[in-house]
Amino acid sequence: MSLLEDLKWRYATKKYDPTKKVEEEKVAQIIEAIRLAPTSSGLQQFQVIVISNPELKDKVRAASFNSQIIEDCSHLLVFAAWDKYTNERIDEMSSRSSISRGIPKEKSDAYYNMIKKAYVEKQTPEQNFIHTARQSYIGLAFAMAEAAELKVDSTPMEGFDPAQVDELLDLKSKGLKSVTLLALGYRDEENDWLAKHDKVRVSTEDFVIEYK
Ligand SMILES: Cc1cc2nc3c(=O)[nH]c(=O)nc-3n(C[C@H](O)[C@H](O)[C@H](O)COP(=O)(O)O)c2cc1C
Repeated sequence: MSLLEDLKWRYATKKYDPTKKVEEEKVAQIIEAIRLAPTSSGLQQFQVIVISNPELKDKVRAASFNSQIIEDCSHLLVFAAWDKYTNERIDEMSSRSSISRGIPKEKSDAYYNMIKKAYVEKQTPEQNFIHTARQSYIGLAFAMAEAAELKVDSTPMEGFDPAQVDELLDLKSKGLKSVTLLALGYRDEENDWLAKHDKVRVSTEDFVIEYK
């Protein structure tokens, strides 16, 4: 199937079949797509928490308006972004880049020192988080596309209490804050009201502003 066909196949699944689990190999492929997602300056400003443990999943569900989606899904991914930029975090990327590309450390540092000035010195942690959280949405999009390619259903979710989820997963100690959830599983087509409906999208003519 082409990417466009996969995107037409996928939808924000509302009812999962709780008896069907996503194979670990497929979960690993979805995680790999997220890991390969591009990010600003390549900093990979977020991490993914993968929850299949039923008790923990249930606790996150309680912090997510008791979502049936979370109850029935097979795996729940939590996208958690850096709470702020630090010199250490940026230095780590500078070293990684210099080692894996064989770029002299001074050259790599010159670029990343500029980034440090812009983010660590000139911005507040709140401004930092707006930027890091945005990067995590790129990962979210890649995850949904890869899941669709594998014929795994998914539901992106902002409908949860981030403070509660952060506490549950002890994200503060990791310097992270939750941004979105992504449920994975297999649709219960018969009982999912949305499975029968077409996608609702703005027409291409209204969507695109073109200057030729
Ligand atoms: C960032 C994001 C957050 C979303 N949050 C929720 C949510 O909390 N609960 C839910 O049922 N659907 C949620 N959705 C699903 C959207 O409503 C859905 O993607 C949109 O209506 C388009 O439909 P489609 O994904 O089926 O094509 C979210 C989607 C995105 C991209």
